Amino acid sequence: MQEIANNRQAQAWNGPEGVHWADHHDRFDRLNGGFDDALFAAAAIREADRVLDIGCGTGQTTRRAARQAGSGRAVGIDISAPMLERARVLSAEERIPNTVFEQGDAEVHPFPSGGTDVAISRGGVMFFADHAAAFTNIGRTLRPGGRLAFISPSMPDPRRESAQVFAPAHALMREPSPAARGMMSLSDPARIQEVLAEAGFADVTTVPVEGLVHWGRDAADAADFFFAMSPVRFNLDSLPVEVTAAVREEVTTALRRHETPEGVRLGGAVWLTTATRP
Ligand SMILES: C[S@@+](CC[C@H](N)C(=O)[O-])C[C@H]1O[C@@H](n2cnc3c(N)ncnc32)[C@H](O)[C@@H]1O
Repeated sequence: MQEIANNRQAQAWNGPEGVHWADHHDRFDRLNGGFDDALFAAAAIREADRVLDIGCGTGQTTRRAARQAGSGRAVGIDISAPMLERARVLSAEERIPNTVFEQGDAEVHPFPSGGTDVAISRGGVMFFADHAAAFTNIGRTLRPGGRLAFISPSMPDPRRESAQVFAPAHALMREPSPAARGMMSLSDPARIQEVLAEAGFADVTTVPVEGLVHWGRDAADAADFFFAMSPVRFNLDSLPVEVTAAVREEVTTALRRHETPEGVRLGGAVWLTTATRP
């Protein structure tokens, strides 16, 4: 691995939080996959494109990009060794030879200059110490006219189903877990505009995308997944057992109202940003 600018993030994503995600990648992929079609439509990957997937994690979007690029390739970069280890195994299992996974900090990674047609990210661009520096570095690897498309979380909206269902747990969550620090740093479109303009991008647009987020097979399964998530455990594990048991019961009851034959799916929303390198 090359130089690291984000040491705390590197430590967090290489520790138990990264391992938990890698071990449950299928759950996280289902959770976040509801926005993939919008991301890929915006990225408009073409045959023979060279794609970069920033903060690729276990690589589901890298593999979809590689399939779409055909004779091109998709490079996934991530700071987390356990996530990348899983990404490589999954690519081999799915027989996708045109994926490459590299460990590095996207803020400072020495990407080949102008060697990328499209850069994408599903929630992997929020964790930088210096966003303008990171996007400048990412911009350098895009060829002139190259495209950037990424998804970042929007601020929780109390009117949304997911906010309502998990409200009893969220009320007890005081601070983000180490890996989640920075998670909401690109949740304001004005901030996204500012950062990308500073990094030299043009044609910046940020639009809301609504989708269904798959939480589990049924209410109990969804609650198991939610209460095992690192940011939730980080806040709730130190509370008295009777408090967490009561919150879990309340959340499970709320989840039950959303059980369907396709599982528990709750409406959610993210920001989708596109930009080009002039
Ligand atoms: C919320 S996860 C999303 C993972 C993946 N894109 C997905 O949708 O499943 C964020 C990812 O960003 C990675 N990450 C955090 N900071 C990074 C950095 N500075 N450079 C590269 N990757 C980073 C983490 O290791 C993690 O895999």
